[in-house]
Amino acid sequence: MTNTETPDHHQEDRPEPDTRSGIFAGDDPFVIAQDWLEAATRSEPNDPNAMALASVDAQGMPNVRMVLLKDIAADSFVFYTNYGSAKGQELDASGMAAFVLHWKSLRRQIRVRGMVERAEGPDADSYYASRSLQSRLGAWASRQSQPLASRSALMAEVARLTLKLGPKPPRPPFWGGFRITPVEIEFWADGAFRLHDRYRWRRAAPGAQWSVTRLNP
Ligand SMILES: Cc1cc2nc3c(=O)[nH]c(=O)nc-3n(C[C@H](O)[C@H](O)[C@H](O)COP(=O)(O)O)c2cc1C
Repeated sequence: MTNTETPDHHQEDRPEPDTRSGIFAGDDPFVIAQDWLEAATRSEPNDPNAMALASVDAQGMPNVRMVLLKDIAADSFVFYTNYGSAKGQELDASGMAAFVLHWKSLRRQIRVRGMVERAEGPDADSYYASRSLQSRLGAWASRQSQPLASRSALMAEVARLTLKLGPKPPRPPFWGGFRITPVEIEFWADGAFRLHDRYRWRRAAPGAQWSVTRLNP
């Protein structure tokens, strides 16, 4: 008897092979992330690109705050901030970051862990230049995460810098992007009876081959 003639009594007991389909389909996690963000842009009332960014301080104490995801590049995610801020110092020191995007209306989340480095090149200059003049001057005026005596002290600093820097301030040397290059990306979507779908993409290092694993909810 050849193999092809062997009756397979167990066929019906076996789970179907796990083919990632629908919103999870594809072989590039950055394309999937971009698709999900576009869906969220249509469904969320505001800030679909808001993400909770985690870092860790010198004592190993985790820290988390919201920032805005500004670019999904070919192999990385970029946001902008003040390099002297708590997050700036923590990310510079550890070289690692994690973030989560959560869309309540879509009932989906994307979790990312990876390496982080400053993104200070021409992209940072052009993003800075694209912001309103008030925002550009605000970036100059704010010593983000440092104590502030009063709101009026901050406004006086904005006024002083407005006179000093004029209508085309350069990007401050202490303000720019951070680029997170993931080694892990998890796509999560709400399922019936809390049996959610989770797919974890993982690679040994940036640039290495991804492997995808379905996880228990
Ligand atoms: C929706 C939302 C978006 C924000 N986006 C940014 C951002 O893109 N960059 C930034 O530096 N702070 C952003 N903030 C402020 C940060 O949450 C945080 O207060 C600030 O960056 C200081 O954090 P740190 O002291 O941990 O460095 C945002 C806050 C909210 C609520």
